[in-house]
Amino acid sequence: MKVGIIIGSQRKVSQSAKVARYIQSSLTKVDLSLGFYVLDLAATPLPFWDEGVWSGDPSWQKIWSPISKELKECSSFVVIAPEYHGMAPAALKNFFLLATKDEIGHKPGLIVGVSSGRGGSYPVVELRTSSYKNSRINWIPDHMIVRNAEQVLNADTAASEDDRLTRDRLDYCLRLLLQYGRALTLVRESGVVDFKNHPNGL
Ligand SMILES: Cc1cc2nc3c(=O)[nH]c(=O)nc-3n(C[C@H](O)[C@H](O)[C@H](O)COP(=O)(O)O)c2cc1C
Repeated sequence: MKVGIIIGSQRKVSQSAKVARYIQSSLTKVDLSLGFYVLDLAATPLPFWDEGVWSGDPSWQKIWSPISKELKECSSFVVIAPEYHGMAPAALKNFFLLATKDEIGHKPGLIVGVSSGRGGSYPVVELRTSSYKNSRINWIPDHMIVRNAEQVLNADTAASEDDRLTRDRLDYCLRLLLQYGRALTLVRESGVVDFKNHPNGL
């Protein structure tokens, strides 16, 4: 099984990337056989969507084909969404303009909000509201918010009770995600999914 980790920060050195490293290491401890595809939207900035995406512009094909291939191979996703002025970063929303049902449809996604303070909930709500309609990513009911991000997930062991609780809940969400990853494979393979007649959600 391959897990896609999408890092939504627009900062080259970010807390979201640190959280992603923790997540990858934690998942590896749960299942050594897991593969990963990590897309850091700051390290690999994607151009903003334009109509060339739909008209098959060769420059878009060059950019998107390798990413699309990797996404198709993933059976679940962790989407790390830092809070920028109470919003999900534009780079992350742009990702959801580019990623389609063919890549992420009916696959489970775990949203991980990140805040340097006590915030972090708005991007969770935003993604739950506005990213799934046509892509059909299937956000699992549990999500995570890494608060006081600079103070947690820094070393091999927890530095504080807050750090311990953050790790405990994040690890729980990750274990759940892996089970949804297995379960939703049945949905995709059931023959019921019909993107030809129902290309868009409501
Ligand atoms: C443009 C910008 C806006 C931000 N707005 C918020 C905010 O509204 N709420 C919040 O809790 N943190 C906010 N932050 C701080 C982030 O929580 C902090 O940068 C954190 O480390 C997560 O972002 P990162 O992954 O890019 O490091 C903001 C940061 C930036 C760069």
